[in-house]
Amino acid sequence: MSEFKNVEIRPMTIDDYDEIFAMWQITTKRALSEADSRENIDFYLKRNPGMSQVAVVDGKIVGTVLCGHDGRRGFIHHMAVAENYRRHNIAKKMAKTALDALSNEGISKTHIFCYTNNNLGQSFWTALGWQKRDDVFVFSYTYKKE
Ligand SMILES: CC(C)(COP(=O)(O)OP(=O)(O)OC[C@H]1O[C@@H](n2cnc3c(N)ncnc32)[C@H](O)[C@@H]1OP(=O)(O)O)[C@@H](O)C(=O)NCCC(=O)NCCS
Repeated sequence: MSEFKNVEIRPMTIDDYDEIFAMWQITTKRALSEADSRENIDFYLKRNPGMSQVAVVDGKIVGTVLCGHDGRRGFIHHMAVAENYRRHNIAKKMAKTALDALSNEGISKTHIFCYTNNNLGQSFWTALGWQKRDDVFVFSYTYKKE
């Protein structure tokens, strides 16, 4: 598939929040939670400077990826491209930029969470050479103050 000539991949800033949150309502709605509030995204970007990316075409944000690490492993969330811009390698470029940023910090292995019925997401990550794990479950815990 041809590529958009004028696609720019650049670091996400909190000033992008309204535009990316509007995009996520369409592309990523079921993965959204209170963790995606403006305040929490601001906190995330400050903890992981320069790692999360947006893709911009003609001044409009058409792609996002959140990227960070815990000092040991990298994590990617909300990899998304607006529907009309898909299959032009935009997500692939954002993934490369994010992984380069992790590598610059000494992080060589990165994980993503993908819903088991998200065939699109699975096709994408598999095409990029990511390995689907059958040997782990995700366990989650929500802290409640007593
Ligand atoms: C998954 C997503 C981010 C891919 O974005 P994209 O910019 O279209 O992906 P790319 O063009 O970079 O695709 C790279 C490769 O991934 C594979 N791929 C991407 N979309 C695919 C699809 N619909 N079916 C099969 N393979 C696909 C292809 O091998 C593709 O290379 P090719 O186009 O040369 O064949 C986009 O479809 C999206 O936003 N989906 C909704 C959100 C989502 O599910 N995100 C993943 C969460 S785990």
